[in-house]
Amino acid sequence: MPLSNRILILHRFQKAWHMATEPAAALNLNGYTDLPPGKIAAIVTYLEMRRRPVPSPFQKPDSWSLQRIDQDHRRYRALFKTIGEPWLWFSRAVMADDKLAAILDDPKVEAYALHDGTADIGLLELDFRSEGEAELVFLGLVPGFIGQGAGRFLMNEAVSRAFARPVERFFVHTCTLDSPSALPFYMRSGFTPYRRAIEVADDPRLLGFLPLEAAPHVPVLGSQK
Ligand SMILES: CC(C)(COP(=O)(O)OP(=O)(O)OC[C@H]1O[C@@H](n2cnc3c(N)ncnc32)[C@H](O)[C@@H]1OP(=O)(O)O)[C@@H](O)C(=O)NCCC(=O)NCCS
Repeated sequence: MPLSNRILILHRFQKAWHMATEPAAALNLNGYTDLPPGKIAAIVTYLEMRRRPVPSPFQKPDSWSLQRIDQDHRRYRALFKTIGEPWLWFSRAVMADDKLAAILDDPKVEAYALHDGTADIGLLELDFRSEGEAELVFLGLVPGFIGQGAGRFLMNEAVSRAFARPVERFFVHTCTLDSPSALPFYMRSGFTPYRRAIEVADDPRLLGFLPLEAAPHVPVLGSQK
C-alpha cells in the first residue's frame, strides 16, 4: 500500500478516535437531544425468534443461485458497498481488512451472495460464533431488486440454515437508517421485537468512508474535517 494511503488511513483513524472519545452529551429521555454537527443517529430495534417459523413459500427463478463468498473478500466488500451505501451501512466499510478477514475467515461465519445469473443481487450473512445462537448479520438487496421476492428467498435460506444447527435463538437488529420495509419484513418473517436503542455515530461520509452522496434520505449536516 502506498505511504499516502497509509497516512490517509492513519489520519481517518485519529479523527475517528478523537470523535469517539468526546464527552457524551446528556440524553433527554423525555424530549429532544441536539446532536453536534457531524453525528448521525438511528433507532435500533432488536428482534429474535426462538423456534423455526412456518416458511412463506417463494419459487426462485432457475437462474438464481446462492454462492458462498466469505473467502472472496473483494467480492464481499463490493457487494456490501453496492447494497449498503444507499442505507448508510458503514460497519464493514470502516473496518480494516485484517479485522474483516478475522470475521469472514471464521468457519462459524457464513456469507452468501445471491447471484441472478448475471450479477450479485443480494447479500446474506450468518454468524454462529455465539454458542446456541445464530445472528442474521446482514440481509440486503441491490437497489432495483427490492420487492421482487429476493428478500423472501434470502430470508427462507437464512431461517433454514440457522435452524439446521442446534440454536435456541435466531436474532437480528435493524435501524431507522435501513430500508423502511426491513422492520415489517422481519416481523412478517417471524421475528419478535424485544429491545430498542439509540445509536449515535460519526457520519461515515464526513470521515471519507462513504461518498457524500450516499443515503440522501439522511442529509449530511456538518463538514469534512
Ligand atoms: C429488507 C429487504 C431485504 C426486504 O425485502 P423486500 O423489500 O420486502 O422485498 P421482497 O423481495 O422480499 O418482496 C416483498 C414481498 O413481495 C413478494 N414478492 C415479490 N415478488 C414476488 C414474486 N415474483 N413472486 C412471489 N412473491 C413475490 C415477496 O414474497 C414478499 O412478500 P412476503 O414478505 O409477504 O413474503 C429489502 O427491503 C432490502 O434489501 N432493503 C435494503 C437493505 C436493508 O435495509 N436491509 C435490512 C437491513 S437490517
